[in-house]
Amino acid sequence: MPVAASADTSPSPRKRQALELFGGLPRRYHAMGALLSFGQDPRWRRALVAAVDARPGQRVLDVATGTGLVAFALADRGRCEVVGLDQSDAMLAVARARLAERPELGRRVEFVRGEAERLPFADGEFDALTFTYLLRYVDDRAATMRELARVVKPRGRIAMIEFGVPASWSLRQLWRLYTRAGLPALGRLVSPAWFEVGRFLGPNIEQFHASEPDLPGLWRTSGIGEVHERHLSFGAGLLLWGVRSDQRPA
Ligand SMILES: C[S@@+](CC[C@H](N)C(=O)[O-])C[C@H]1O[C@@H](n2cnc3c(N)ncnc32)[C@H](O)[C@@H]1O
Repeated sequence: MPVAASADTSPSPRKRQALELFGGLPRRYHAMGALLSFGQDPRWRRALVAAVDARPGQRVLDVATGTGLVAFALADRGRCEVVGLDQSDAMLAVARARLAERPELGRRVEFVRGEAERLPFADGEFDALTFTYLLRYVDDRAATMRELARVVKPRGRIAMIEFGVPASWSLRQLWRLYTRAGLPALGRLVSPAWFEVGRFLGPNIEQFHASEPDLPGLWRTSGIGEVHERHLSFGAGLLLWGVRSDQRPA
C-alpha cells in the first residue's frame, strides 16, 4: 500500500484549533468518548461501519481516523484493507500503538498523516471511504467533500458520523443542559484538555448545523448520490451515507 506524503501549508485558525484540541486527548480518548456520550459513540461507529459494508479485499480510507477506532472496526468486520488518515501526530501515535498490539491484522491496516483537504491519493483509489466528526474542523466543507469523493471509485460507498442536535424541543433543552454544564464539568474532572473539549463541543455542534442545514444537499453537490440520513440516539448522532456518483461534480 504505497502512500505519498501530503505537502504542509501554514494552518488556518480553525485548523490550528483542531490540532491543539486533539493534541492533548489521545491517552484517554477511547474511554472518555464512550463515557461522555453515555456509551452511544461506539454504537454510532458500528452503524457507520455497517453502512459502508466493506467486503474482503476491498480498500477503505478512514479520514479523521484519530486513534483508529473506525479503522479497526472496518478491518475486523469486513476483513478489508484500511488506510486511516489523520492530521494529528498525537492521535496517530495511539492508533499505531494499538496496531502494534494487533499483529493478526498484518498489513491490512495502515495509518498515515495527512489532511482531508489534500488527500495524498489518486482519483478512485478506494472502494469506500468513512469519516467521523470532521466537517466541523475544515474551512471549506464543499471543497473537502469533493476531495473525499475524488479518491473513491464510482459507485463506492461513503459514510460519515457527526454529532447532531435533537429535533424535539424538550430533548434539545436537555441536550443543551448536558453539553453546556455536564460536559465541561465532567471534562474538568479529567484534565484541562478535556475541559476545553467539554466547553467547546456544544456551541460548536450547534453553530455547525445552523451554518450547514442541508448536509445531504452538500453531499449531492460534491458528487455523492443516493444519500441517506439516519438520526441516532434521539438526534444526538447523525449517520449519512451515499455512493460516489459516476459523474464528477461540475
Ligand atoms: C473527534 S476525532 C474522531 C476520531 C475517530 N474517527 C473517532 O471516531 O473517534 C476527530 C479527528 O479529526 C482529525 N481532523 C480534524 N480535522 C482534520 C483534517 N482537516 N484532516 C485530517 N484529520 C482531521 C483530528 O485530528 C481528530 O483526530
